[in-house]
Amino acid sequence: MIELRTQGARQHNLIAPSLLAANFANLQSEMEWFNRSEADWLHLDVMDGVFVPNISFGFPVLEHVARLTTKPLDVHLMIVQPEKFISQVRDLGAAIMNVHQEACIHLHRTVQQIHEAGMRAAVTLNPSTPVSSLEEIICDVDVVMLMTVNPGFGAQKFIEHSLDKVRRLRELIVRSGSQALIEVDGGVNRKTAPALCEAGVDVYVTGSAVYGSSDPVQEVEALKQLTTC
Ligand code: DX5
Ligand code: ZN
Repeated sequence: MIELRTQGARQHNLIAPSLLAANFANLQSEMEWFNRSEADWLHLDVMDGVFVPNISFGFPVLEHVARLTTKPLDVHLMIVQPEKFISQVRDLGAAIMNVHQEACIHLHRTVQQIHEAGMRAAVTLNPSTPVSSLEEIICDVDVVMLMTVNPGFGAQKFIEHSLDKVRRLRELIVRSGSQALIEVDGGVNRKTAPALCEAGVDVYVTGSAVYGSSDPVQEVEALKQLTTC
């Protein structure tokens, strides 16, 4: 399993470009700049048209993408019953399997199964799902991801209230002695990144801000600097 937390480090600033905003007709060149950049993880958004009102890409596409990088893959499953796909996500070589709390009736079991498959377990909360819903499982998860937009689409407006939610999550992590990293997804850009950093975020998913930039490598570098706080 990948090392997620350096001993003694309080806060990370890992940048995770979201492939959802890439030019799908030219994934090879999108992966070329990604590999050259300071990006830390590749964030892959799988949607089923049921859990979220959109469909993105599935395993046949991801198998090709996975061969184009050696950086950790963070597979964000916006699908119902994500536990059905644990072995397929593992076979991609994913480092982090990211499931929604709202999609998992037996979340504790799913987290255990993700660990047994040799991956880090990330649990994601929709904007309306409270941080307190993770109280009983916070010490068992490796990453908590907060959706800072409603899942399903890129390039939406950042939900400002998320900053308070990050602070509440940080409090829960500290209070419980959990080692979980805090990840955010949606509307992360040069404008929103500094406040997210102040609130206590470790991992920044960013789609349209980097893929929409004329120089994505430099955009990642700028975000990396803005999240050193
Ligand atoms: C939304 C996805 C995000 C999305 C973020 O459902 O989970 O990862 O790609 O895109 P931006 O950064 O454009 O908000
Ligand atoms: Zn995502």
